[in-house]
Amino acid sequence: MNMRTVYVNGEYMPEADAKVSIFDRGFLMADGVYEVTSVLDGKLIDFDGHAVRLQRSLDALDMANPISKDDLLEVHRELVRLNGIEEGMIYLQITRGAPEDRDFVFPDPETTPCTVVLFTQNKPGLADNPAAKRGMKVISIDDIRWGRRDIKTVQLLYPSMGKMMAKKAGADDAWMIQDGFVTEGTSNNAYIVKGNKIITRAKSNDILHGITRAAVLRFAQEAQMEVEERNFTIEEAREADEAFITSASTFVMPVVEIDGQPLGDGTPGKVAPRLREIYLDESRKVAI
Ligand code: PDD
Repeated sequence: MNMRTVYVNGEYMPEADAKVSIFDRGFLMADGVYEVTSVLDGKLIDFDGHAVRLQRSLDALDMANPISKDDLLEVHRELVRLNGIEEGMIYLQITRGAPEDRDFVFPDPETTPCTVVLFTQNKPGLADNPAAKRGMKVISIDDIRWGRRDIKTVQLLYPSMGKMMAKKAGADDAWMIQDGFVTEGTSNNAYIVKGNKIITRAKSNDILHGITRAAVLRFAQEAQMEVEERNFTIEEAREADEAFITSASTFVMPVVEIDGQPLGDGTPGKVAPRLREIYLDESRKVAI
């Protein structure tokens, strides 16, 4: 891969020169938040939504936002330009910074500024991903994450373990189960389809409030599809007509197998591919 130009605390530099302290609380304590914004046609998809959620995550952790929304937009655009990204993602992470020593107590923000890091991920063919035509396989696993999954923190150990459990089982991802009900995928929101009805868990502290989720539910309603925000079990999912996931990096992706059992004939149905098409079309129109 070509050497990227990345952004660290106000400066653009080659990725090999980018450094963060060993005392950074992101490194020592996962005390940080992140966002992933996709890029199509060299433009940002739903930048506003991601900026609003970033602020919400920072507020929830009592971290002062070190960068204004306008400046953040400028940094995103500059990284897209410097790295020549047509399709891909921008990863953003803000941590509570690097105090002089390891300490559980939060450092004084006056003397310990937040660490801000952004880098690009070049993914040509992201929108035309062949996986969207095949559909993906998921397994179900227990949801043993902490209780504030609505905050987009960098504590991604269990989601990583979930992806590894899926990989071992010959699947692509895992859906997590709490008290018998599906919460979400390891890095995406989860949906089932019954007839003309799209069913997904309602927003709460149990799931991340996906930016793609909000857009897809809006587009679904505009396309006269019915949306029901409620809990569903994995058994109900296995009997559904269709299933799919959404996230900034996968957009809308059909699920064709759950726990080794094919959904319907094991190929993507009508609703998920249609929603993917609408999502991509509409998002491109308003990308900035
Ligand atoms: N993941 N749920 C979880 C647990 C997630 O990590 C994500 C995003 C989503 C979907 O949110 P959005 O539509 O705003 O991307 C839901 C990102 C893409 C990641 O970790 O790479």
